[in-house]
Amino acid sequence: MLESGEITIALPKGRLEKSVQKLFAACGIDFQFEDRKLTACSSDGKFRFFLVKNSDLPTYVRHGIAGIGICGEDVLYESGTVFTKVMRLNCGQTRMCLAGRAGAEKPQPGRKLKVASKFTRFAADYYNNLGTPIEIIKLNGSVELAPVLGLTDYIVDLVETGSTLTANRLEIIDVLKEISVYMIVNPSYYKMRYAEIDALVALLQGGQNGNG
Ligand code: PRP
Repeated sequence: MLESGEITIALPKGRLEKSVQKLFAACGIDFQFEDRKLTACSSDGKFRFFLVKNSDLPTYVRHGIAGIGICGEDVLYESGTVFTKVMRLNCGQTRMCLAGRAGAEKPQPGRKLKVASKFTRFAADYYNNLGTPIEIIKLNGSVELAPVLGLTDYIVDLVETGSTLTANRLEIIDVLKEISVYMIVNPSYYKMRYAEIDALVALLQGGQNGNG
């Protein structure tokens, strides 16, 4: 039996929120989160949006609470779940980087790399694949403080504008991966609503290519 009702979409709180909302609006899908309210319906009643913490977004999609989600590859990778990606967005591109104090000694080959990161899975897999021994200290935010305060010499973190690094006198040592933002779907939900989801993807793709 086909599911009906609004298409459910989880959006990440924070930096991406406004650019994603703008893309939907450019495609004629308008919605507003009222003050502190975390759910909103589109004015045409076809879509229901949930505003979730970035790192929780894969959980909502995995459980099918949201059929669709918009999420960076960084968070998707950390979640450990492989999702079906139906669209790459043109906004929110960042780089996963190894960074340290400006002028600091570069990591020495064969020596254990001690890093602070929110992205522990990414950092562990990346350096394990290179055969570089690594010790990771997990932090949940303001990761740039770690080398400033001497917790670790290095961090693995996202760099977007680079202004947080610069303000804290840190610099990029290595770019580990370019990170993009994707629209992901719950596979069961996609089976039930593929026609509507494909139509939404086509609409948004047109919108971000300037044909919206
Ligand atoms: C992210 C990231 C960096 C910062 C980079 O943190 O972890 O700290 O943005 O952005 P920039 O290159 O434009 O300065 P976020 O703002 O999500 O906050 P957090 O420190 O609480 O994780």
